Amino acid sequence: MKSIGNFPATETALKSNDTVESLQNRSALQDFRGSVLKCCTSGFGFVLLRGFPVDPSDEDTTKNRFERFAKSIGVTLSQDSQGEHLGELSARNRGPDWYNELPLHTDGANLLLLLSVRSALSGGLTKLACAAAILETMQIEHPTTWQMLFEPWAFHRGKRPGPAYFERPIFKEHFNSTPDCFFLPGTIRKTPDVAGIPLSPERLEVLAHFQEIAEREDHQFRLKLSPGDVLVVNNNKVLHARTQYADAPNGPQRLLLRMWVNVHEEEFR
Ligand SMILES: [Fe+2]
Repeated sequence: MKSIGNFPATETALKSNDTVESLQNRSALQDFRGSVLKCCTSGFGFVLLRGFPVDPSDEDTTKNRFERFAKSIGVTLSQDSQGEHLGELSARNRGPDWYNELPLHTDGANLLLLLSVRSALSGGLTKLACAAAILETMQIEHPTTWQMLFEPWAFHRGKRPGPAYFERPIFKEHFNSTPDCFFLPGTIRKTPDVAGIPLSPERLEVLAHFQEIAEREDHQFRLKLSPGDVLVVNNNKVLHARTQYADAPNGPQRLLLRMWVNVHEEEFR
């Protein structure tokens, strides 16, 4: 994998007395940011950055540093109804079901940023799948139903204030690249119960076909994140998931930090 810079240089730019505005003016960080965006828009749709300074014994400093790095890339988004921008992905915070395999999906922001702080005892591989390749296979294998992916689908909004659901297509044409994807299979399936919007058997079948194709090994790239690895994923083009994992009994738990970041449309082509 080609090197696009290193975090020590970025760390120098991430001094604790910097404001977000002064961070955005630092040229070393801006060059690095430009390379990250290029990989995510005109490359594979994701980039793995190694060597982020992580201190497992000082989670607060690591969180603060990662938040500042995310803010130097773009506008960070809230991840829950409490308005929290930094997500802590561990069984400690998510409960015992968190150890189960997660299905392939996209998140809501332009970019997903994941920082590995501690690894699992076993398992926990990150899975990535190209949305355009899945769509192409759908078009070949399901020529009479794939068009439904371009129709509006209902997604419930959980406990967030405002409307109970919103509608948008799973695929939306993009003016100068492959169609943008927005895929949350768990949310789609729960929407009839949560928001009272029916889901037809035909659509359930399309959903199942899409997931079956996405889960094929030839559509996937799997990697194990190690402490200090930052994975940046273009949510519009690449689906992500994780295999099941286990923590050591009474040992330190696997911990990933997550940020969602939006980038100005002009820069995200
Ligand atoms: Fe996700």
